[in-house]
Amino acid sequence: MHGSSSNYSTPSKDELRFVSTSLKDIIHPELHRRASDGGFTKVTKSFLAMMGVEQVGFLSVDPHLDGFYIHTIYVVRNHRRKHIGSYLLKEAENFAASHGYTFAKLKPHALDPECVGRDILLRWYVSQGYVPVDPGDSEWFIKRLAI
Ligand SMILES: CC(C)(COP(=O)(O)OP(=O)(O)OC[C@H]1O[C@@H](n2cnc3c(N)ncnc32)[C@H](O)[C@@H]1OP(=O)(O)O)[C@@H](O)C(=O)NCCC(=O)NCCS
Repeated sequence: MHGSSSNYSTPSKDELRFVSTSLKDIIHPELHRRASDGGFTKVTKSFLAMMGVEQVGFLSVDPHLDGFYIHTIYVVRNHRRKHIGSYLLKEAENFAASHGYTFAKLKPHALDPECVGRDILLRWYVSQGYVPVDPGDSEWFIKRLAI
């Protein structure tokens, strides 16, 4: 599996791609439900992780004037722990850096707590290079981006 932004007409079944999307194009029920949950602003941008032709992950980000916020990151249950979440996060960071942001910020919120609880989620963000904005308070996490 590898990431790619090239435009193959028929992607191989394990090729991982990051594509811009809108709600009407999200057909995977789990991802559509998640993407429909709202919280979007005028600046929100949405993306899918595609594995071959399958929709496997959803990401939304808010590139505001005062900072770059990762809003939602979600990988479908049967494709978790295949580094798709890490891939989406990295692509979000690349998007932010390419638009001149030096930090990415997020508020961890377990969206599927039956499967991935808050403790696992916080450890996952830390493993991806995020640190609490205020030590001892895990509401907001931040990462300095390599530009
Ligand atoms: C958080 C999430 C996006 C991670 O995506 P993912 O593709 O499964 O994660 P990755 O494969 O990139 O990272 C996996 C690593 O994270 C850790 N990890 C992830 N899920 C784990 C779990 N359920 N239990 C233990 N460790 C876990 C492990 O270290 C794992 O590495 P390993 O599989 O080699 O042991 C995914 O679990 C998810 O969609 N959760 C529900 C939505 C959610 O709560 N989103 C957060 C919004 S703020």
